[in-house]
Amino acid sequence: MAKSNAPAPAAAPAESHGSLISNPSQLAWAVLFAFLVPIAIIVGLTQYVTGGLEVDAAKDGITDAAVQKRIEPVGRIVLGEAPPPVQPAAPVAAKAEGPADGATVYAGGCSACHAAGVAGAPKAGDKGAWAPRIAQGKATLYEHAIKGIRGMPAKGGNAALSDDEVKAAVDHLVGLAK
Ligand code: HEC
Repeated sequence: MAKSNAPAPAAAPAESHGSLISNPSQLAWAVLFAFLVPIAIIVGLTQYVTGGLEVDAAKDGITDAAVQKRIEPVGRIVLGEAPPPVQPAAPVAAKAEGPADGATVYAGGCSACHAAGVAGAPKAGDKGAWAPRIAQGKATLYEHAIKGIRGMPAKGGNAALSDDEVKAAVDHLVGLAK
């Protein structure tokens, strides 16, 4: 079967059909045009395809704003009101103007626990609760307030406070309990 499909051995082409190229100069022209004609066609095609397209960054449709507008998200999810501009926490804001005084530091953090006596914190102004603590001496109170003790977090949980600010707040608390 393979044998019957095999083409008969082709006769050598020899010089049987006439060639348009019969001398070296014609050959040179043929080679030249074989390069030039496809290149001319390709250049022509690219011009044809891109010819009408003007890319001018200064044009209205291509400004950054116009592009952003075209590709902007279809919608946004906003939960609740727009958030208010971020306000630094009171003690930090006060810090910019110098060390905060005891009352300010107390109001800005310590009061969270000490105003109501949360988690076993001695209540501000509760003489009975503070008396045994004050009896330990200021130095101990300072140390416990700065380093923390049991339910009392170091610096009341606000590491941004300076030692002096914590001491001032301790003085304030002690003053309230006198
Ligand atoms: C997260 C709650 C919390 C915050 C905030 C907090 N405290 Fe306390 N504080 C406690 C608790 C609880 C105790 C009691 C700890 C104990 O003796 O078991 C305490 C105890 C103290 C004591 C007594 C320590 C002692 O030796 O008896 C001082 C002084 C004190 N706090 C100062 C402060 C100051 C100043 C701040 C703010 C910078 C502050 N606390 C913030 C919970 C808090």
